[in-house]
Amino acid sequence: MAQRTFSIIKPDAVSKGHAGAILAEIEKAGFKLVSIRKQTISKQQAQGFYHVHAARPFFNDLCEFMSSGPIFLMVLEKENAIADLRKLMGATNPANAEEGTIRKMFAESIQANAIHGSDAEDTAAFEIAYWFAGYELL
Ligand code: CMP
Repeated sequence: MAQRTFSIIKPDAVSKGHAGAILAEIEKAGFKLVSIRKQTISKQQAQGFYHVHAARPFFNDLCEFMSSGPIFLMVLEKENAIADLRKLMGATNPANAEEGTIRKMFAESIQANAIHGSDAEDTAAFEIAYWFAGYELL
């Protein structure tokens, strides 16, 4: 059965002009784009989105970074979407990402790592509902 996941093309990749190439990799891998929106988010919106990381030392820098410029917010759909997108993205730290993954190709650093993808069904449900209204997901 088709599954949905949430993804972000992060400010580093958008500012370097990699958004189209990343979308092409995602579509080539069989994901359907259910919804997509370009937006510059506030630091407060980033803090709410990343609330599970609030106690981490990198939390403030991460929220500053995510609100530093336009991003693409996306809902993607395919069989096994959550795990398959994580595999396509590669390791969080691009230094550890495998050849052919989006982070290997486009990420700069562990923070400016080009793309986000939900890590489980419950986080995907939270993240989709955080950014998109039901009528945008038909
Ligand atoms: P993301 O998949 O969006 O989920 C949380 C983000 O925190 C992660 O990608 C990175 O951008 C960032 N992150 C994770 N670990 C670190 C770290 N050790 N130092 C800085 N940023 C990190």
